Amino acid sequence: MSQEIYITTAIPYVNGAPHVGHAEDYLLADIYARYQTMQGKDVRFQAGTDEHGNKIEKKAGEQQIDIKEYVDQNSAKFQNFLQKFDIKYTDFIRTTDPSHIERVQKIWQRLEKHIYSSSYDGWYCEGCERFVTQKEYEENQGTCPDHQAPYQHLTESNYYFRVSDFKDEIKAAIENGKMQILPEFRKNEILRLLEDAPDVSISRPVAHLKWGIPVPGDESQVMYVWMDALTNYITVLGYPDQDISNYWPATVQVVGKDILRFHAILWPAILLGLGLPLPRTILSHGFIQVDGQKISKSLGNGIDPVEVLEKHGINAFRYFFSKHIDTFLDADFTWEKFENAYRNELANDYGNLVQRLSVLCQKNSVEKLDFSSAFVPEYTELMERFEFTNAINKAWGMIQDVNRHIEEQKPWQLAKTAPEQARVSLSELVKELLVANHHLKPFLPVAETVESIFTGSGQILPPETPLFPKD
Ligand code: ME8
Ligand code: MG
Repeated sequence: MSQEIYITTAIPYVNGAPHVGHAEDYLLADIYARYQTMQGKDVRFQAGTDEHGNKIEKKAGEQQIDIKEYVDQNSAKFQNFLQKFDIKYTDFIRTTDPSHIERVQKIWQRLEKHIYSSSYDGWYCEGCERFVTQKEYEENQGTCPDHQAPYQHLTESNYYFRVSDFKDEIKAAIENGKMQILPEFRKNEILRLLEDAPDVSISRPVAHLKWGIPVPGDESQVMYVWMDALTNYITVLGYPDQDISNYWPATVQVVGKDILRFHAILWPAILLGLGLPLPRTILSHGFIQVDGQKISKSLGNGIDPVEVLEKHGINAFRYFFSKHIDTFLDADFTWEKFENAYRNELANDYGNLVQRLSVLCQKNSVEKLDFSSAFVPEYTELMERFEFTNAINKAWGMIQDVNRHIEEQKPWQLAKTAPEQARVSLSELVKELLVANHHLKPFLPVAETVESIFTGSGQILPPETPLFPKD
């Protein structure tokens, strides 16, 4: 059967509204989705919300709202966010969807031979919804560095998933690249973690957590939130009720670095337990930070992404996050950097260039072009390696070349003495711009508009209405 493109994003907890950190997941996935669609591929792109667990139960309790109402409200915020950001997802799953709940219970039953009951006596981070080892507890001196909150001590009986049944197979898949982990330095971290990865508790007693999916056949337990969350990637495709082989294994699963370990150890173990293939690539990005501190709902230091979006629009947002926040690394968001990138780069290098050329073409009666383009091989290689920042840098270099050539050729001077030569020069420059511009399409939706200015029904841009206004 033909394998299509399947792209997944982490499903955020609905313990608050989206912040710019969430935009990173969606943006990277969306760039790749647009790129593959441009290549003529059939793209399936999942997004959703993670709605169970202690963190959410507690937040709703604090606000004295019915939990279901609380998660409905917050899930709607994420859906609006995706709309506003024009993210081209095809499926939206909520872990409270009845179909998801039923399917996860069936998945649990299929995994039964790898599940045993035991007890847990140790640490837990509610912010991460994660069981924390004694070693980590000591390294972090009892406080989660991401959430700045003390670890809780838990004593409870649980069901465990025997990750140890699959460790060798996971290790081999990572090492031989069948399951690619990006970036490389994170892959090495995962291989180290895998060495002493313990079996994982996959349920919680109802006395400690009510807001979860019931464990089939045991009313005293609900599923650990990650068990229910990770499986969304296949339940959304219909598993186990439907054949998912058109889309699974996923082409790429986009996650933040803090949750890579769940995706690179527990999730593959679940998949192997089900007899399903492992995802082809897990891409982990860094954190968007403010003053070196991760932006988080739990910390409440969020930059409102809608405010950033509304400042200069979607293209400015996407430009900044693609070009100035390296795909794989942590980076600070500051308004100053954002404004500089907008004014000095997007508005100057690109906006002005488009405008100058369109005005010159009109003045000199240069006709609209027939244009079709392919990506240059170097760019394709970068995109295939998910090096999106390097890919947009490559495209931007091409834009800079056009800026240089227009200055060298000075078609406005030529026009005075040799109008025919000026038209030829302008056509050449426009062609060069369109090729560069084509490479911006996965990143900047405005690139479609720019193309239509020179090739189709798009209007020329008079100097008084710039593509990117500077105020
Ligand atoms: O972890 N910068 O949900 P979440 C970059 N429900 N990315 C960030 C970020 C930041 N400051 N803050 C969060 C969860 N993220 C789970 C996921 S998937 C089966 C379950 C990213 O709301 C984070 O790394 O805490 C993750 O990829 C996503 O936002 C959701 O985080
Ligand atoms: Mg988080």
